[in-house]
Amino acid sequence: MAIKYITKKGSKYWPSKAMKEIAYVNNPKIYKEADKNPIKFWAKIAKEGLDWEEPWTTTYEEKLPYFKWFKGGKLNFSYNCIDRHLFKNANKPALIFVPEPTNEKPTILTYKELHEKVCKFSNVLTKYKIKKGDVVSIYLPLIPEALVAMLACTRIGAIHSVVFSAFSSDALKARIQDGKAKLLITADGYYRRGKPINLLKKAKLAAKRTTIKKIIVVPRLKKSVRGLKIRDFNKEMKTASSKFIPTTVKSEDPMFILYTSGTTGKPKGVVHDTGGYATHAYITTKWNFNLKDNDVMWCTADIGWITGHTYAFYGPLLNGSTTLIYEGSPDFPKPDRWWKIIEKHNVTAFYTAPTAIRMFMKFPEKYIKKYKMPSLKILGSVGEPIDKDAWNWYFKKIGHSRCPIIDTWWQTETGGTIVNVLPGIGPFVPTLAGKSFPGIKHIIVDEKGKEKKKNQLGFIVQKSPFAPGLLHGVYKNHPKYLKTYWQYLTKYKKKYYDSSDGAFITKDNLIRITGRTDDVMKVAGHRLSTAELEDAISQHKLVNECAVVPIPDKLKGEVPVAFLILKHNKHPSNLEKQIKSHVDKKIGPTARPSFIYVVNQLPKTRSGKIMRRILKSLLINEEPKGLSTLLNPKSVDEIKKIIANKNHPK
Ligand code: WTA
Repeated sequence: MAIKYITKKGSKYWPSKAMKEIAYVNNPKIYKEADKNPIKFWAKIAKEGLDWEEPWTTTYEEKLPYFKWFKGGKLNFSYNCIDRHLFKNANKPALIFVPEPTNEKPTILTYKELHEKVCKFSNVLTKYKIKKGDVVSIYLPLIPEALVAMLACTRIGAIHSVVFSAFSSDALKARIQDGKAKLLITADGYYRRGKPINLLKKAKLAAKRTTIKKIIVVPRLKKSVRGLKIRDFNKEMKTASSKFIPTTVKSEDPMFILYTSGTTGKPKGVVHDTGGYATHAYITTKWNFNLKDNDVMWCTADIGWITGHTYAFYGPLLNGSTTLIYEGSPDFPKPDRWWKIIEKHNVTAFYTAPTAIRMFMKFPEKYIKKYKMPSLKILGSVGEPIDKDAWNWYFKKIGHSRCPIIDTWWQTETGGTIVNVLPGIGPFVPTLAGKSFPGIKHIIVDEKGKEKKKNQLGFIVQKSPFAPGLLHGVYKNHPKYLKTYWQYLTKYKKKYYDSSDGAFITKDNLIRITGRTDDVMKVAGHRLSTAELEDAISQHKLVNECAVVPIPDKLKGEVPVAFLILKHNKHPSNLEKQIKSHVDKKIGPTARPSFIYVVNQLPKTRSGKIMRRILKSLLINEEPKGLSTLLNPKSVDEIKKIIANKNHPK
């Protein structure tokens, strides 16, 4: 019989004896201990968990809004992910890759094989003149070569900038230009729902008239790839040497940039360092997912997002563990694909987003019923608040009421998880993310930084000393970094990192995250900004002005709704289609507005600010407030009618 890792006491779930026995941490004292001296706590973890070539001289230095972890320390990230495991675990699988086509066999890369590939690709990068500090753009689907390319960058100290493969060529281009990337690594395509998807076309278009000197293409679809700037990944690997001594970098050297949406039209390049990020990724993976010798972790996130970076790739490898990735669509060829994979590969820790859970809840029961998934020990949730229904379904149908659900709250900016319950400690309560990870401190405050009482809703901020995984700037944009994250510092001299999330703390000291307080949306777990979408839509030739607001959606959590004012009153019958394909081109299909309304006016304040709050109230059938401050209150009635006439959404 499968082991039960949880037990019910009162109305809450707690770790069972079996879980406590296997858990790396099972004593709640850990929180107090870490809290006494967080800097000492993190120093201990960094020392025990990573291999350093030179020890640091200062554990933590703060010159806000910047701070450094392990200053003076030197290391190589890829060495920590691969080489140091070779002595004991050379033949252990590092990566299991499950391709989407069912007639293709999974690929397994052992630590030794991964080492060889990463060394080879480091030589390829060097051949194309990539050196420490250069930016390399990676536009790849979820395939093993993505891991090889990313690790090779870290081996030579180059900075990788991964762009989600479903993003458009315009989106890729903007990111290439911002980072001034020299090299682009992409694939001819990938499989989605049984169909080959062309990626190279978008990549080539994006690279035109940019700093990109060469494009290295993985022939995933086995197409022959040719062109002046183009090189075939496999051919390059064949002739490359399999020896490459890792380049030593400073702990505070940047390791990667990941572009993410904020409150403006342009995504910002979140910069992560090497030593702090590695420490954070290492310990959160170890303690949250409790990876043991033969365990297999499957984090379903794509590498285009931070979750893919930290928990599909880096965290498990820093722990010398096995990570599984799956290329394709969750319901292909049938909606039991994921459960089949879990059973076949004995996945022990499974980490996914509530959106995926909600999608599976809609499929007929027969697709999950026969899968008992006895290997599972821990389930994780990430990306958006998980509602009670989704939690219960996840808990019962996937975890068979045996496994704890670890709801992890964090952000691209934090590099790794910062609020969650530890599996050996508990309790596991639906909708409550839990406690700050040991060594990290959060409080809930008002606009001015005054701490709120228990159960009072406010803004969740992180206190100094800041977590080792926290970002180290916005790439080449100090003003944006300062403005986005350090308002409490600049305005009220408070040492708080502003997360832009709302939250409250219950009387049991558990944190409930209520969602973003800025203009960032989470659409099917994907982070998008209303400003970015407005900016894109406004560039359409027929659009004069536009406002985007998110509304709740049963499946995707949130979806964007667009209000348009057209130029010259031209309203072609295929306008919606035109706008949607325009958004596909500018950002990608993930950003497509679900509903589009053409209006004559948008509600504005006297100073010309669009009142999106009012639009949202109208959409969700709430009485709009603050109409007296409007320049054009009549616009509200008009929009109300338009929404009612179109008869959606409700
Ligand atoms: C939201 C994803 C509630 C939150 C790791 C945050 C969550 C944003 C949770 C960051 C959670 C993430 N509960 N909300 N467990 N996890 N969020 O940068 O609003 O893609 O600010 O990072 O997702 O999204 P990002």
